[in-house]
Amino acid sequence: GGSSRVMPAAPRLVIVSNRVPAPKERQQLAGGLAVGLAEAIAGRETLWFGWSGDASDNVAAPQITTIENLTFARVDLTRSQVKGFYEGYSNGLLWPLMHYRVGLMEYRRADRESYEEANERFADALLPLLRPDDLIWVHDYHLIPLGAALRARGVRARIGFFLHIPFPPLALFEALPDCDSLLHDFAAYDLVGVQTRQDADHLDAAGRARGARLRVQAFPIGIDPDGFAAQARRAEAGRDVRRMVDSLGDRALILGIDRLDYSKGIPERLRGYERLLQRFEQHRNKVMMLQVAPVSRGEVAQYKALRRQLDELAGHINGSYAEFDWSPLRTITRSVPRGTLAGFCRLARVALVTPLRDGMNLVAKEYVAAQNGEDPGVLVLSRFAGAADELAEGALMVNPHDPDAIAEALDQALRMPRGERRRRWQAMDAAIHTATAAQWGTSFLADLERLDPQENAEADH
Ligand code: ADP
Ligand code: G6P
Repeated sequence: GGSSRVMPAAPRLVIVSNRVPAPKERQQLAGGLAVGLAEAIAGRETLWFGWSGDASDNVAAPQITTIENLTFARVDLTRSQVKGFYEGYSNGLLWPLMHYRVGLMEYRRADRESYEEANERFADALLPLLRPDDLIWVHDYHLIPLGAALRARGVRARIGFFLHIPFPPLALFEALPDCDSLLHDFAAYDLVGVQTRQDADHLDAAGRARGARLRVQAFPIGIDPDGFAAQARRAEAGRDVRRMVDSLGDRALILGIDRLDYSKGIPERLRGYERLLQRFEQHRNKVMMLQVAPVSRGEVAQYKALRRQLDELAGHINGSYAEFDWSPLRTITRSVPRGTLAGFCRLARVALVTPLRDGMNLVAKEYVAAQNGEDPGVLVLSRFAGAADELAEGALMVNPHDPDAIAEALDQALRMPRGERRRRWQAMDAAIHTATAAQWGTSFLADLERLDPQENAEADH
């Protein structure tokens, strides 16, 4: 339709993600999906639909809030869906599998049923809110079956999907008992986006091997680098950063920021830091490491175990190396305001980003954005982060399984002359300005809109 319009308005965008920020909660978000999306949709008429984060056992209509041209519609899950769909299948099974950690998977058929049921429930609640010419964009591993569920309810609009986390090689993916049905769910989308070329190759190969026709392409997610830089400059004069400066004296700050997640390589990073203190004595009492790691998915067994491990390692390192007026390590397992984090990034001489596997890792990009370009800090980055594709030229690259490699990179970073720091930072700053969050959203949606809907892979069944 639309032939009578002189200037066809851009279609409304419908974003569906399991985690939807509470309206105005943007400041406190921890997680690349919500942060990246919030940047990407700026200015467009948008409906953002998903889970409220709450459990309730009386099935109610979505809670709807509109702020300018952005409408939030959030539904509760039942207590049993939180357990089966969110904690069980999504985070106790798919999350470890997609991060190549087959040994951490916990498979239960009841969780699988809950996963299907929650997706059906989302589809039922979303259906009455949809308009025929909406552009629908579904996000992340919680909602892989949603596209097929909407198609089964007669939705003919274009539906795209973006996977924010990695996709493993076929030999690992096949460990999933439901791998075929999940691949066919992917095939219901008009376009599937992933973070890197490697993820695209893996998903493509899995689809081919198991007979599902997918249209997959890499769209690396980014940040709003200038916005984050401005936040970091403002925070520099703020109270939190001043307190931090006072407590550091002339010691160099080494910074880690992550959700408390086993994919982030936090214990590996601490072992690398411990090795620095052990092997490079000259840095003792000259550095302080801050690890901010807010508890995430704290009801899931593998995450509880990680928290205990972090507490134990941190106690061990402080016990072994602290002096009566210096502790080498501080850990915070709460969320910290984004502005304060930005200020800490600007202050830090080194950022340690050492995931064992990560879809992208926005913290790495935020650290780069926050630097003072005249006297920037150094990024130590795992080769297993999606961000390595873009930042390898400027970062000190490490394999996080090797504590000596982390210790050596830290030593090199702490000694690095300003000229080299500036050259490396400039390369990374150019990269984060090339692939921004806004550019990510625009290019995915442009590709989705450009598709001929007749070509829908296995859409209309
Ligand atoms: P993931 O999506 O796996 O959490 P990313 O690094 O891609 O990892 O994204 C994390 C996002 O959450 C970043 O924008 C980061 O600044 C934010 N974040 C991480 N830790 C905290 C924290 N402690 N407090 C507030 N925000 C955080
Ligand atoms: C990652 C995932 C997101 C998720 C976020 C926070 O960024 O890709 O889908 O929302 O972590 O995790 P949570 O379980 O709190 O939603």
